[in-house]
Amino acid sequence: MAILITGGAGYIGSHTCLELLAAGEEIVVLDNFVNASPVACERVRRIAGKDFPVVTCDIRDANGLRRVFDRYPVDAVIHFAGLKAVGESVKKPLEYYDNNIGGTVCLLNVMREKGVKTMVFSSSATVYGASNPVPFREDMPTGGTTNPYGTTKFFIEQILKDLCVSDPEWSVSLLRYFNPIGAHESGLIGEAPNGIPNNLMPYIAQVAVGKREKLFVFGNDYPTSDGTGVRDYIHVVDLAKGHLSALQRARTVHGCEIFNLGTGKGVSVLELLSAFQKASGVQIPYEIAPRRTGDIAVCYADASKAETVLGWKAERSTFDACRDTWRWQKNNPDGYGL
Ligand code: NAD
Ligand code: UFG
Repeated sequence: MAILITGGAGYIGSHTCLELLAAGEEIVVLDNFVNASPVACERVRRIAGKDFPVVTCDIRDANGLRRVFDRYPVDAVIHFAGLKAVGESVKKPLEYYDNNIGGTVCLLNVMREKGVKTMVFSSSATVYGASNPVPFREDMPTGGTTNPYGTTKFFIEQILKDLCVSDPEWSVSLLRYFNPIGAHESGLIGEAPNGIPNNLMPYIAQVAVGKREKLFVFGNDYPTSDGTGVRDYIHVVDLAKGHLSALQRARTVHGCEIFNLGTGKGVSVLELLSAFQKASGVQIPYEIAPRRTGDIAVCYADASKAETVLGWKAERSTFDACRDTWRWQKNNPDGYGL
């Protein structure tokens, strides 16, 4: 049997492919390469020493999806494919709703048609909104999202919950990621954003490698220890391993389950900056800038459910993630050369 990985050429997808291959799973990658390069899949093959099929297909293309299910013995789907830029989603809401929600509904229809009813879905801590106290627990209310990207995650979660209520044969794992950072220790795969990075870690890494002049710290007047925003930064390899645990669980338990994938620890912008400087030996110039619209002060997980139910917990430190990001960025200053 094979696992279909939608968005498998992307940042988290490529790291997850490696972990699945290492665990002896057969995989099929499906991606339309809107935000990824086929080079990432070549690198995964090289690290793993294993081959696997890579299909260029859009998740909104039902016939293309049918051909994939007809050709390969898919028994489960890990669904990463989606657009993820918060700011862009505010400017292009229809594109985000069409790609993320329309694409997911199309994929689910074809899965049902082909009798494949197991899915692990990439959700986000953004579904908790701004009004819950930290740490965020899976049973806290969701919604109140502040941008169309976040709303697509909230809606897709609801669609998957409804589907599981309608048909008890479905097994769905909703994984709420906190802030993935880092790269594989080989330095061969990592995060390769197009244009100016939206997220903190890739921005720091590009300053370190000389592609950007300085970091802008968005606000130093939050109610946190040093006034800068606090997040739960999780090493992408730990996150990737979490998918393996969730998949094993979904293969044995029916219904919809939700898991936070985070470290349970909050780290401020200035703390992350300091860890990166230590790990890389590079000084990062920075300037305090106004708060970014839509940002919350503090976001970190209660990660105990994943540990109790899945037997998974994050093992790598912030320092490890900075060291691995630096190795990737130094060796690949232009990412995959997109
Ligand atoms: P990414 O952009 O690197 O990966 C997404 C992949 O999906 C890309 O390879 C892209 O080409 C592909 N894709 C997009 N639309 C597609 C479509 N219509 N058909 C086929 N392929 C398509 O992003 P990532 O950081 O690896 O994130 C993976 C998933 O995790 C996304 O759903 C994202 O929203 C979610 N997530 C990411 C973060 C984060 O901070 N990186 C946090 C929470 C949730
Ligand atoms: N930040 C800066 N300067 C930058 C970029 C970010 O100071 O150039 C700060 C932000 O203000 C925030 C922290 O760094 O305090 C982290 O910001 P990121 O953009 O890296 O991450 P967010 O927590 O804002 O958002 C991420 C993903 C979203 C996801 C959310 C919750 O980008 O897709 O986590 O999971 F929805």
